[in-house]
Formats: sequence, C-alpha cells, structure tokens
Amino acid sequence: MNKGIFITIEGGEGAGKTTLIEQLAHTMQQRGKTVITTREPGGIPIAEQIRSVILDCNHTGMDARTEALLYAASRRQHLVEKVVPALADGQIVICDRFVDSSLAYQGHARGLGMEEVWSINRFAVDGAMPQLTIYMDIDPEVGLARIRAAGEREVNRLDLESLAFHQLVREGYRKLLEQFPERIVKVDAGKAANAVLEEVILTIDRRFKGFFAADVQ
Ligand SMILES: Nc1ncnc2c1ncn2[C@@H]1O[C@H](COP(=O)(O)OP(=O)(O)OP(=O)(O)O)[C@@H](O)[C@H]1O
Ligand SMILES: [Mg+2]
Repeated sequence: MNKGIFITIEGGEGAGKTTLIEQLAHTMQQRGKTVITTREPGGIPIAEQIRSVILDCNHTGMDARTEALLYAASRRQHLVEKVVPALADGQIVICDRFVDSSLAYQGHARGLGMEEVWSINRFAVDGAMPQLTIYMDIDPEVGLARIRAAGEREVNRLDLESLAFHQLVREGYRKLLEQFPERIVKVDAGKAANAVLEEVILTIDRRFKGFFAADVQ
C-alpha cells in the first residue's frame, strides 16, 4: 500500500485539526502534490451506517466495548474503501483523526484500556498505519473556548464532557507520544495557525526527506 503517504492529524476539541488540514492540503496542491483529505466515516456508506448505529439516541444500552468494536469496524471499511486505494495510487492521504483518537478517548479517558482498544484496532487496520501522525497539543480549556467563540459548529456530546475528561484525553495522547515516538510528532497547537502550519511543513519535509524542498527557494 505504501506508494503514497499516509498522514493523520490528532488532538483534542478545537486544537485546529480541520484548519491545519485545509491549509496543509492547499499548500501541498500548490506545490503539485496529489492529496486527498478525509475523516472517518468519510462518505463510505457501510462505515456511515455503522456510525449511525453508534450515534442512535435509542441505543442507550450500548456497551462501551460494543461501541469500540463498532468504531473499529467503521474505521476498517473507510480504510479499505478509501485510504488504501488512494495510497496504492501514490496519493497523499491526510486523515482527520484515526486510531489514536480511539486510544486516547475510549482507551484512556473512558477507561477501556489503551492496550485493549489497540488490540481491536490493530486487527482492524491490519498494518495500514500512518507513516506520520501530527498530534496537536492544546490546553483543553483553550480548545473548547475556541469552539465556543467560533460558534461554527454545534456543540456535541464530547464537548460537554467535563474538563477532567478532556484533560484525560490529553494525558492519553501524551502516553501515545511516549509509546510511538517514531510515528507521532507533537506540535504546540496553542500558537497562531500560520506558525502551526509552518512547523508541520518542516516536520513533513524532514520526515519525508525533502518533500517540499524542491519548492523552497
Ligand atoms: N492556531 C489557532 N489559533 C487560534 N484559533 C484557531 C487556531 N486554529 C484554529 N482556530 C480556530 O479555532 C476553531 C476550531 O478550529 P478547528 O475547527 O480547526 O479545530 P478542530 O481541532 O478541527 O476542532 P474539532 O474538535 O471541532 O474538530 C475555529 O474557529 C478555528 O478558526
Ligand atoms: Mg475538526
């Protein structure tokens, strides 16, 4: 699958993931790269149906492990239908959240256990892991304030979790950074969006040996 480049963007609510992905894709396209941006379930009907089962308000009795398995199933379908073919075609795929979100949110913050959640996700992704994950680190209070200030999107179920929950998510991501230092790179997401973009471009250039270099004057 590895003709292309698979990059995932992670971080808590309001870290600036969507903002970064738009700017990064734009920068890459300007420099002649073929890039697709996606997020689970990514418009894949099977994955969307699985997701609607998870989100159905009538399913109040859903067990936490059932939920984790369904997320992994949805992830699998999006991966094989959209991500893997694009990579095989030599494209760059930038995905807004991936396995690390399940590990940080459900594994750590919800307390299912990162190892347990990783074991089902390892089965789901079957080796198709990103070559690089950008972790956008931010104080949850700052991230949530950005979302409230912008008022661009509905406040969702996760935003309404306690601040303590979001602190746990951050702790989960930091554990992942320690566990996967080769794959995950932390970026200070509290900086201005342009400074974040610049840092990420440098990281990508370093990681993929001159990815942008040909275009740098
Ligand atoms: N570096 C930044 N500094 C200040 N504000 C920012 C920065 N990056 C993004 N924002 C603003 O913060 C808000 C949230 O950003 P964005 O939607 O990109 O975050 P996200 O990580 O995708 O959030 P979500 O958890 O909702 O998916 C937006 O209004 C965006 O314009
Ligand atoms: Mg977003």
